[in-house]
Amino acid sequence: MNEAANTSDLSIPPAVAAPVKASGGLQGVIAAPSSICFIDGNEGRLVYRGYEITDLVGQISFEETAFLLWDEKLPNAAELSSLKQDLGSSIALPPHVMALLRTLPPKTQLMDALRTACSALGALDPDLLSNDRPANRRKAVRLTAQLPTIVAAFHRLRGGLEPIAPDPKLSIAANFLYMLNGKRPHETLTRVLDAALVLHAEHGFNASTFAARVTAATLADMHAAITAAIAALKGSLHGGANQEVMELLLQCGDAEGAEKKVRAMLANKEKVPGFGHRVYKTFDPRAHFLRKMSRELGEAAGNTKWYEMSERLIPILHDEKKLNPNVDFFSASAYYTMGIPIDLYTPIFAIARVAGWTAHVMEQHSNNRIIRPQDDYTGPFGLKVVPIAQRA
Ligand SMILES: CC(C)(COP(=O)(O)OP(=O)(O)OC[C@H]1O[C@@H](n2cnc3c(N)ncnc32)[C@H](O)[C@@H]1OP(=O)(O)O)[C@@H](O)C(=O)NCCC(=O)NCCS
Repeated sequence: MNEAANTSDLSIPPAVAAPVKASGGLQGVIAAPSSICFIDGNEGRLVYRGYEITDLVGQISFEETAFLLWDEKLPNAAELSSLKQDLGSSIALPPHVMALLRTLPPKTQLMDALRTACSALGALDPDLLSNDRPANRRKAVRLTAQLPTIVAAFHRLRGGLEPIAPDPKLSIAANFLYMLNGKRPHETLTRVLDAALVLHAEHGFNASTFAARVTAATLADMHAAITAAIAALKGSLHGGANQEVMELLLQCGDAEGAEKKVRAMLANKEKVPGFGHRVYKTFDPRAHFLRKMSRELGEAAGNTKWYEMSERLIPILHDEKKLNPNVDFFSASAYYTMGIPIDLYTPIFAIARVAGWTAHVMEQHSNNRIIRPQDDYTGPFGLKVVPIAQRA
């Protein structure tokens, strides 16, 4: 036996590749291959399945975007019509989910109601326990159809109003607006919301998508993964920022007030919602579109105040911190001008991002390995158990 082989002493750990220490927040870590989305943070470029976002917005609907993300190609007319039919036939909520929404206290946050109801949707889903692609694809369609219905239904219930039954012939964007107040939405509002859904549909390994993939990688089902994603989206560093942007603008009253407030926030080292991004080091390409939408909606409504206040903040954040607006910044003033209640902004993000989340769950399940990093232990060793009576 040579000397190397003679080291079979149990106190000597077997040779393993030295773990690589990740930077804080996993910055710069590539967690897995993916063919769904490409982001170039230096160039401000976003690509869904090979298509530049600049080509997709205004040219394809949210339904076509979902098909693209799930099926890796744009649908032809027959495929789109079949998808719309499938979405329409899934859009009403099962009775047990509607009954559950009725039991939630009216002050329940919309994102919490959405997360709870999404989890409950799994209970009676006919494909719940199958993670194969056809089953996952069917669940992706059902979840994409049902999340907007949950948000609109709970929004009405919490205000003491009966939910409005969805119209299966309408698009996701039109139906959502219709279910909020029972009025057929104006074509412009539907078009703007549809474009916003396209812009929010997918964004690589962002926090909520990563939460979905981590959950799916344990072989938990699609509903479990999407419930986890909704939970992650809620936070103010992620999807919750759009609501905070509007709250900030309202609190400031006018452009001078906004400038003063934001300068004070920066002096206090506080974060200004709607600015900064882990990946984009230049203008977020989605913000370009939302900026234009915010301006045009303001002009059409004869009130560009919120758009102008937003514009006033951009050079301040750029000059002081080299930060640019992200997707949440102009979506706030755009949605506000559309008359959408402020706490619906983050749920609208979820209604869109479910297309990307479900695409990622399918990709994860199709080539799975459990996601299990290590931590960098910083605690003590060698402590001894002291009997409880002697503990301080
Ligand atoms: C998006 C975000 C979470 C990215 O976080 P991150 O990559 O971890 O970046 P950090 O939080 O480490 O920020 C780096 C520096 O920029 C500053 N910064 C980042 N975003 C800022 C903001 N919105 N306002 C003020 N300062 C900000 C940080 O304070 C930090 O400054 P320092 O180096 O002097 O300490 C962060 O920019 C943020 O919190 N933005 C506001 C919330 C938001 O809009 N979220 C939606 C994202 S789409």
